Amino acid sequence: MRIAFLECTRCGEHLSADRSQNVCPKDGGVLFARYDLASLRGKLRPENLAGRVATMWRYAEVLPEVRANEKPVTLGEGLTPMLPSREYPNVYIKDEGLNPTGSFKARGMSAAVTMAKHYGLKKLAAPSAGNAGGALAAYAAAAGIEAHIFMPKDVPMANRMECDYYGAYVTLVDGLISDCARMVAERKDKEGWFDVSTLKEPFRVEGKKTMGYEVAEQMNWKLPQGIIYPTGGGVGMIGMWKAFDEMEELGWIGSERPKMITVQAAGCAPIVKAWDAGKSTSEIWAGAATFAAGLRVPKAYGDYLILDILKKSQGTAVAATDEEILAAMRHWASVEGVFAAPEGAASLVAYQKLRANGFLSTEDTVVLFNTGTAYKYLDVIEAQEKKARLEPPTARNIGGIIGPF
Ligand SMILES: Cc1ncc(COP(=O)(O)O)c(C=O)c1O
Ligand SMILES: [Zn+2]
Repeated sequence: MRIAFLECTRCGEHLSADRSQNVCPKDGGVLFARYDLASLRGKLRPENLAGRVATMWRYAEVLPEVRANEKPVTLGEGLTPMLPSREYPNVYIKDEGLNPTGSFKARGMSAAVTMAKHYGLKKLAAPSAGNAGGALAAYAAAAGIEAHIFMPKDVPMANRMECDYYGAYVTLVDGLISDCARMVAERKDKEGWFDVSTLKEPFRVEGKKTMGYEVAEQMNWKLPQGIIYPTGGGVGMIGMWKAFDEMEELGWIGSERPKMITVQAAGCAPIVKAWDAGKSTSEIWAGAATFAAGLRVPKAYGDYLILDILKKSQGTAVAATDEEILAAMRHWASVEGVFAAPEGAASLVAYQKLRANGFLSTEDTVVLFNTGTAYKYLDVIEAQEKKARLEPPTARNIGGIIGPF
């Protein structure tokens, strides 16, 4: 529906959505899109969703409205499977690997590029750990908009290749995503780029919040007791939390909330460290290193929002080592038939740890987010196997080569 205003999550300042905005001009706070949801209450009901388009745009009334003659820039993102675990009762795997471009980043970019087109923006720029770049490149291609992407030079090969094929301008940086972000910030004014960095414009959150609507819809409007979410920039967690508040305002759910649980890689765990220390913001993580590329975020721009959600939901934060993640990937693939991205498999590690220490029980309904597909990580997975000295083919269930014949 029509956005009433954009609201700063730090100072509460209202800004107009009539033109494109990045962050709060006063304090750099993240901006949230606000709608007149009270006017929808009682009119839009869950049963109205039946038979609607099987993408995230089925929730059109709670997504930014484009003009009557405009259409969302969509590639079929969202409404991904909610798979009951074959191993753990009451556990579900939300498989975001089935999205266009193979990750949940598609949702955020579908919304952000739709609005960029609406505002008439011609050039978008973003730093990326890999998947956000691929998604931006695809949606920009679909919209006929230029994309300028800055990625660490060691991103998975699939991310480099897809950006190239989608026609984006790609710069590989000998550094981390934070270095890439600095380059976008330094060059954007001169180049005329609109910055679509994580949480530096309001609409990627709007796309990603649809995961929260889907969790509710797919669980018949009864939220689970826990949600485990691999957290880099934290947009998905922030978006889902926003969705729960909106659904309560719409009268679709009550005041109950899942425990929101962050999982990060042990080699880059600034949110876990801040949570353990009882802090409300995080510090830059020095020497960030993990093969779960999307979790290699030394400092999240919205750290204050993530830590607030963990606290309000009585959630927690857990770290998983690369060895644990690799083992979880193999386990999930062989037991569940889900070949998860390393970031997604980290959710399984967190679940196992939280079951072992009693934070979660077997009765708790828990949703584990697999945020992407492993097919985009084949090169980094093989490199990780070598590092762990699991030399193929012994590591794999693959016999020797026969022939030539
Ligand atoms: C597969 C995957 N999972 C998780 C993340 C982290 O996402 P967020 O920034 O929403 O925390 C990323 C980010 O690049 C990713 O690509
Ligand atoms: Zn502000």
